[in-house]
Amino acid sequence: MKRYVADISRKSVVLGVTGGIAAYKAAQLTRDLQRHGIDVQVVMTRAAQGMITPATFQALSGKPVYSDMWDTGVPDSMAHIELSRGKNAVVVAPATADFIAKLANGLADDLLSTLCLARECPLIVAPAMNRQMWDHPATRRNVDRLLRDGASILGPASGDQACGEVGMGRMLEPGDIAEAVAGFLAPKILKGVRVLITAGPTFEPIDTVRGITNRSSGKMGYAIARAALDAGADVTLITGPVSLAAPAGVALMRVTTAAEMFEAVKRNAARAGIYIGVAAVADYRVDKPSRHKIKKTDHDRLKLALVPNPDILAWVAGRPRPPFCVGFAAESRNLDAYADEKRRRKKVPLMVANLAQEAIGADDNEVTLLDDRGTHKLPRAPKEVVARQLIAHIAKLYASRGRKPR
Ligand code: C5P
Repeated sequence: MKRYVADISRKSVVLGVTGGIAAYKAAQLTRDLQRHGIDVQVVMTRAAQGMITPATFQALSGKPVYSDMWDTGVPDSMAHIELSRGKNAVVVAPATADFIAKLANGLADDLLSTLCLARECPLIVAPAMNRQMWDHPATRRNVDRLLRDGASILGPASGDQACGEVGMGRMLEPGDIAEAVAGFLAPKILKGVRVLITAGPTFEPIDTVRGITNRSSGKMGYAIARAALDAGADVTLITGPVSLAAPAGVALMRVTTAAEMFEAVKRNAARAGIYIGVAAVADYRVDKPSRHKIKKTDHDRLKLALVPNPDILAWVAGRPRPPFCVGFAAESRNLDAYADEKRRRKKVPLMVANLAQEAIGADDNEVTLLDDRGTHKLPRAPKEVVARQLIAHIAKLYASRGRKPR
């Protein structure tokens, strides 16, 4: 089978850290941005260095950390211009009241503020300050002005503050900032396209309290739902029982059994432009689940009669005018061969293959994409990154079909 090379465009940002207590959270933010496949160049203010050392960020980002206007380590000694060139955004987190005031007024008296003024890319600001500073008319004015200048403001959140007070002003959690930045940077390649996704396991009852299920966590399906949403799609997520929070903005439908999932898919398939079946649908269900809890003493040997569940993916792909269908194949061996056999049998243009023992429940995944052109292996990466790459690939195949979007 022909192999072709992955087309992955990495994003990169300058992370500006200013001198608020929340500066320590910027270390986690560095990690979380990297988790989304984003390269991070850290620039700190002098005050931030009183809160957390540059060495921490240097170790996490794998790059020198800058804070001095006159740093000779930057090519051409023009750090204020050089550092933001080629970047997709400057993210200031945490942004103190003082730094927001500087940004709003175009002051440029240190490396980070000068770099913000000299940048060509978008500016994203995550404020963090005491609630009274946040509520002060001067801060309100400065934030308004920043918004009018085209900056994006993330947060702040409400909650316990370092000063012991409770109120508005806490920096958003690093994971939420990283997710928002990744969404902001994602190209809107599925703008207006309706994407229907199934995720998680199904649960097939044996009696009133027991059932047959599997170890699917839903993480891959939920990451794909978020990536599709960030790409501008209109997303419906049909989910089996999982303990994950659904991405804000998806139309969520919770189901338990494969039969319920099938009904929900049937109701939504006609409107979908793209169908992505990530759910680990139980192949069999108990023929007649007991309406009472089965007693242990009732049986020496308990036999369960199982009947096959409908194949939801094959049904969608077999419709007269099917959406662009993507299936997932979790195999424990002969990955490519088994997955390709499933792709042909279920008549889906794209099958995503992963090793069941490595993928199910894990945070990372290594997948192979199989379509008519051959196989396309993506490197092992966090599921969020795999999801974005997969959405980029699906968008390309979907666009090349030349059908009117729906
Ligand atoms: O279970 P199997 O390996 O055949 O799953 C491959 C693909 O088919 C997955 O995308 C899964 O969501 C889908 N499937 C389905 N209905 C089933 C079984 C699998 O839609 N009953």
